[in-house]
Formats: sequence, structure tokens, C-alpha cells
Amino acid sequence: MEMTNVAIVGLGTVGTGVARLLLDHGDRTARHAGRTLWLKKAVVRDLQRPRGIDMPKGVLTDSLQDVIDDDQITVVAQLIGGLEPARTIMLSLMESGKDIVTANKALLAEHGPELFTRARELGRSIAFEAAVAGGIPIIANISQCLSANQIRSLEGILNGTSNFIVTQMDENGADYADVVREAQQLGYAEADPTMDVDGTDAAQKLAILAHLAFGATVDWAQIPRTGIVGLDPDDLRYARKLGYRIKLLAIANLAEDGLELSVSPTLVPEGTPLAEVRDAYNAIQVIGDAVGPVFYHGLGAGQMPTASAVAADLIDTAVGRTRLTFQTLEYFSIDQPPRVKLRDADTSSGRYYLRLRVANHPGTLAAIAAVLAQYGISIASVIQHEGSDGRVQLDPVPLVIMTHVATEGAARLATADIEALASVTGPVVRLRVKD
Ligand code: HSE
Repeated sequence: MEMTNVAIVGLGTVGTGVARLLLDHGDRTARHAGRTLWLKKAVVRDLQRPRGIDMPKGVLTDSLQDVIDDDQITVVAQLIGGLEPARTIMLSLMESGKDIVTANKALLAEHGPELFTRARELGRSIAFEAAVAGGIPIIANISQCLSANQIRSLEGILNGTSNFIVTQMDENGADYADVVREAQQLGYAEADPTMDVDGTDAAQKLAILAHLAFGATVDWAQIPRTGIVGLDPDDLRYARKLGYRIKLLAIANLAEDGLELSVSPTLVPEGTPLAEVRDAYNAIQVIGDAVGPVFYHGLGAGQMPTASAVAADLIDTAVGRTRLTFQTLEYFSIDQPPRVKLRDADTSSGRYYLRLRVANHPGTLAAIAAVLAQYGISIASVIQHEGSDGRVQLDPVPLVIMTHVATEGAARLATADIEALASVTGPVVRLRVKD
């Protein structure tokens, strides 16, 4: 049987999973690739570190040069996180004639055009299924399976760590800091978990999907984003009372006047598929003009789900499928003008959930309603507590308002004006509602 020699650079959580699939299930990969995928080298920083896997003699090395100098190695799973030295390593590997498979979405979101252009110049390919939504084959689906469609919208839970944290807080009353630690131990979180919980990771993934689905050239840092840091258990509770769950939702929506992109904690109606996505699962709902709505669900983080996507890319690259797709689709080409423009975020519209702490005296509600009316925002419902626990008069009291549809601009300005009212204490929590 023919053989393709592969290497792994970076034997962390995902790299070890990929090594496991290649070493323990070589028969399976060979059957699908029509050739043996032979793990010839695995590059690590520290040769002594235990990795929980038996590597055949001579595979483990701490020298990247061993891979660069080996002409028999033609495909490399480059699984180092962060921007540098990951970028330089990827460039050197491509210069030395290797095709690349990667899971590093931060690197692609930041340096995609440079890396993809260089790959094309060198006649190499970059496969990146594992960079978005872990084990869900969303890259292949959007760029190949749905290619006859104009994608209309894409709504996703793209960060497994955030979804795990919110689920544990919501269902088990878990403490935020404890769950972040647990997500790290389970191998879900990024090396720096701040990128998971502040919406960065989801925004980087959304930028990649928006490029594939809409031809948008987006700097991920320009995507309006709010993470789950500081999400208050009270909001999870009120959302439930109103018949919703809170999810960190990444949205790409094609409107007449451009593409709307955002990442934010959003109230999702209970009983709908996105509301039921729990723990480290990811999900993406895509609407295409021909296919209609399609829903993808699966584990978006963790060792083996991500390794599953990397190993499939290794097979596709060894077989030659990746090169064909890579050349045909011109991923992240700087020669191609963006096909859509981004919409001004203030013009997007939806319903809003507002939670305030307000003075418990006459006229408070009227003053707030007056501000909303001034911006043309209509109130759909209000939850106000009695303001007393039976004996003691509470002040301030929590007040939750659900609005009818309003533009983001109007909701933003109204919120600032409400915060300035003397009867309102502290900041207003404002969350989007998906209907
Ligand atoms: N840290 C990411 C997540 C997994 O929690 O979804 C890798 O993309």
C-alpha cells in the first residue's frame, strides 16, 4: 500500500489525540485514504514531559529541523497555538514543501491572507476544519456541501468553554471561577481562557465562517462582541422565567444593506434547538436560499472531537482533495475584493432584555418608559418585584424589561440615558433576544 509520511508539530491536548488516531487506528485511516498515513515525527518542546501515549521509537523529537529536512514528510499537522512562533513555523514548513493542517483559528483570523497567499505561491495547501467548532465539519459543509446556495444567515454557539460555563451556572448554580477551572482541566479552554470568555475565540471563528459563507473579508477585532465575563446568575434566572436560555451567540446575517456580524450573550427561546445546546457542545444553524435551514450540532472543544477534524484533514490532504478545494476556492485571496460590505452595527434590529436596579418610589417606571418612548422603543413586558420581602422594604429593586423590536443604535442610546436617571442605580444589563 502507498504511504504518506506525516508529522505533528505540537503534542498538546489535540496533537496527542491526533497521534492516538494515527497510531491506534491506522487501519481506519488507511481505508479512507487508500494509503497508510505514517506518523514519522512528532515535534515537542520538552522530550521528558509525560504525554500519556506510547510513541514508537524515533518519532518524538525536539527539533523542528528534523521535519523541515525530511523530504519524505509531505503533510504536517501544525498544532501550536498562539500567533508566534506558530506563524513562522507554518511559513517554514510550507517553504520546505509541506502541506499544512491546522486547528489554530487565531492564527488564521489574524494572518490568514498572508499565509494563504504564500501557500498558493508555493503550490501548497492549508486545511483548517478543526479551527472552527471542533468536531463539527462546518468548514467542509459551507465551502463544499452548501456551495450552490447563497447563505442568508448563520447563527452559532461557537465557543465550547463559554457554553460549558453558562450551562453549569444555569443548571447547577455553579460558581463562575470554579467552572472556568474545570473547563481548563477538561481541555476545552484556550491556553489563555480570557479569549474564550470575552468573545474573542467566537469572533475569530465567526470571521472565518463569514469569509467562507459570504466572501466577507473581516478583521475579527472589528466584530462587535461581548463575552460571558460577568454574566450574572440573576439574568440566567430571569431569562428562564421569561421562557428563554442565555447563550453566547455568534451571528452573521445578510441584509439588504450589508452583512451584520456580532457575538453576544443572547436570550434564545426555550425549546428551540440552539437553546438546548449544552456543555461543551457547539451548534450552527445555517440558512441557505436553496437548502433552507440546516442545523449542525456536536462537540466544539476537547481532545478527540478536535483530533477527529484534524485527522480527516490529514486524510483529505494525503489523498489530494484539499489541494483541489484550496485552489478552486481561493480562500482568503488578497486579489479578490470582498463580496459583501459590513453593515453599520447600529442599524441591526431585534428585541432586547434590560435589567436595572431602580429606586422603589412613584414615577420610576414612568421615567424609564419615557426614555424608551423617546427612542421609539416599545415595552413588551415588565417583571417588577413587590419591592418587599414581607417585612423590609427593598430599595433599590430589580426591574426587568423586554422590549419590542428596536435598532441597536436606539437601544444603545436609550440604555445610556436610562443609566443617567437618578432613580437608576448602577449599569443596565442589556442583552439581545432571538425570536
Ligand atoms: N477553546 C475553544 C472552545 C476550543 O472552548 O470552544 C478550540 O477552538
